[in-house]
Amino acid sequence: MPDIPLLSGPDGARIPAIGLGTYDLRGADGVTQTASAIAAGYRLLDTAFNYDNEGAVGRAIAEAAVPRESLVYSTKLPGRYHRHDLARWAIEESLFRSGLDRLDMVLIHWPNPRIGLYAEAWRALVEAREAGLVTMIGVSNFLPEHLDRIIGDTGVTPVLNQILVNPYVPHDEWRAADAERGILTEGYSPLGNGTDLVQNGSVTRIAAAHEVSPARLLLAWAVTIGVIPLPKSATASRQAENLDVFDIELTGDELEELASLARAGGADPLTHEEL
Ligand SMILES: NC(=O)c1ccc[n+]([C@@H]2O[C@H](COP(=O)([O-])OP(=O)(O)OC[C@H]3O[C@@H](n4cnc5c(N)ncnc54)[C@H](OP(=O)(O)O)[C@@H]3O)[C@@H](O)[C@H]2O)c1
Repeated sequence: MPDIPLLSGPDGARIPAIGLGTYDLRGADGVTQTASAIAAGYRLLDTAFNYDNEGAVGRAIAEAAVPRESLVYSTKLPGRYHRHDLARWAIEESLFRSGLDRLDMVLIHWPNPRIGLYAEAWRALVEAREAGLVTMIGVSNFLPEHLDRIIGDTGVTPVLNQILVNPYVPHDEWRAADAERGILTEGYSPLGNGTDLVQNGSVTRIAAAHEVSPARLLLAWAVTIGVIPLPKSATASRQAENLDVFDIELTGDELEELASLARAGGADPLTHEEL
């Protein structure tokens, strides 16, 4: 699994170039599905308190035949726990649920700006990191104004911002804002979950030209534009397929055609309530 350097955070720290989305991988099946992904080569596992699978993902990590330090367990703090004391308890609860002895990464799941406590939540994450509960801290679905608020408040820059990124919703401006601030962008729904993206004519035509599946093409696109994609698959063969993307080289014309697919979409972080 190739990895890439963090733009902020500890010198020399790196993060895997692709992660596994684990939404809906739950229970004993979820353990088996996460284990097959680790066996296929995934080293970054994206979960959340609200996915109700921190135990399953943690169990797969504990049973994995690869060194614990080679794996990145990344979870997210839900909106209902943004208050400072609640945030600390929720982070501790994530740790207990995972069964691990430390969390590698905690993100704030959504800013919930109408509730207005995300800066308080960020201070709790900073303190949890200082206390050794978690190694890296970041955010998800944060707009530039939310990033500036928490960086201004604490002087601590999130290592990454996890946002919706695929050719339908590439979020160029948000990605540029992350990069300007020394923040990596992770991309969720890279296969366009819930849309017809894998059947889109441009996607299937360019994929066929490279003799790869639409999913591989979409993940190669994400890697090419500097995003860490988080494809979810419950299927071992697809999990392996989704990692086989690093030698697909897209031409300028192909990138331009994929850029032309952009349209409005995704929830608005200013109004979306994630609790
Ligand atoms: N921070 C946030 O607010 C947020 C929001 C949404 C998602 N996420 C994270 O991002 C992850 C991924 O996003 P997502 O789950 O929305 O969608 P996604 O990864 O874009 O798509 C998942 C869908 O694609 C299918 N699939 C996987 N590999 C395939 C392949 N090679 N060919 C064809 N179909 C394939 C999967 O089916 P099978 O499983 O049956 O293979 C599943 O139905 C989530 O699991 C979660 O970890 C975060």
